[in-house]
Amino acid sequence: MGRIVLVVGGGGREHALTIGLLESPSVRTVHVAPGNAGTGAIATNHDVSAGDVEGQVALAQSLGADLVVVGPEAPLVGGLSDALRAIGIPSFGPHAAGAMLEGSKDFAKQVMLDLNIPTAGVQHLTEATNLDEAVDRWGAPWVVKRDVLAGGKGVVVTEDRDEALDFIRTSIRSDGMVLLEEFLAGEEASMLVMMDESGFVALPCSQDHKRVGEGDVGLNTGGMGAYAPAPVATEAVRSRAISEIVEPMHKHLSSQQIPYRGCLYVGLMIDEEGAPSVVEYNVRFGDPETQVTIPLISSDLCELLLAVAEGRLADSMPTFSADHALTVVLAAEGYPGHPEKGRPITGNLSDDIVPDGRAFIHHAGTGIVDGTLVSTGGRVLASTGIAPTLSEARDLAYQKLSNVQLEGAHFRRDIGHKAL
Ligand code: AMP
Ligand code: GLY
Repeated sequence: MGRIVLVVGGGGREHALTIGLLESPSVRTVHVAPGNAGTGAIATNHDVSAGDVEGQVALAQSLGADLVVVGPEAPLVGGLSDALRAIGIPSFGPHAAGAMLEGSKDFAKQVMLDLNIPTAGVQHLTEATNLDEAVDRWGAPWVVKRDVLAGGKGVVVTEDRDEALDFIRTSIRSDGMVLLEEFLAGEEASMLVMMDESGFVALPCSQDHKRVGEGDVGLNTGGMGAYAPAPVATEAVRSRAISEIVEPMHKHLSSQQIPYRGCLYVGLMIDEEGAPSVVEYNVRFGDPETQVTIPLISSDLCELLLAVAEGRLADSMPTFSADHALTVVLAAEGYPGHPEKGRPITGNLSDDIVPDGRAFIHHAGTGIVDGTLVSTGGRVLASTGIAPTLSEARDLAYQKLSNVQLEGAHFRRDIGHKAL
């Protein structure tokens, strides 16, 4: 016996979920759609795109899936969990109405304001707005956000007034409106919270590295590396975040007609005094945060995700290991602009087990063409180390990455620097 699980998506996050599920004693087989070369090597890939809601439902049905785990936001916003639940298949990930917390930054902001959750102030800018007055209200730096799903690329944070105004004007032209937010100073951390109507659990906090360049400079990306646990989220910070942010959200989401069942990703800004506020919500696991968080769960991952999908998390709380994890993203030449694809990836990509730790490759934008492993996306793979200390985890991850070759690729050499 054992459970049949379908993972929806094809990035590093989905590879990490697939590894975690295959390590679960309760699992028989894992299917991934569409997957990548990494998931294809350990599970069964299916050629159905993540955003194809009908195709994913048909696949889950034909596989007789006991659980569907939805990685990216687009199928959630598109109603995949609603459609699966309607035919009795448990789905980890919120219904479409819950997914609006990520689908619309404006909606998320309104929920936070209604619940008195600490977050940056916001102005709505349209064609009718006096833009000079608006940008001078809070002054530099300016935080401008398009209210569309843009894979982490719809946000500009800049000290340059003209750049801010340019982005504001282009966004209003294409979307009809744009949000201008108050700038929050501090350090960021990602808090992944699994929740259903019976309870919630905050996983160890992690820290992503969103800018493309070392020292946090350059363009925003989907994330260039991460580590967990992040010491900036001290016990005191975590407990404030839970009482001021997570508890009110959980109470609100559980009181809805259809409760929220999945991961609520709380993007935190922690100020000098240790006060947390919300930068953004996502309705899914983070990428690359998942690669450093899932390995720290020591209990059966499948039973945990299934419990959330069925609304009985309170009876299935996870346990965690005391290890540290760090992952470094290898990005294609040109990323985050126009990544070069189709280049061969060579080197030692197999898992390394060392005393007290391990190092392995999480595949993201990879595929097999004519028997050769090639790059297929901007973030190609992530090298991950797990060890008793953060510095050992870092050494394992960089050591592993030094044995991988991809022409023109780049990575940050300072992942974890703030904690080391
Ligand atoms: P978002 O897509 O909303 O997470 O924004 C992307 C990135 O922009 C965040 O990870 C932050 O680094 C930065 N950012 C967003 N909003 C703010 C803010 N209000 N103050 C400072 N930085 C921000
Ligand atoms: N790493 C940021 C995100 O997943 O949204």
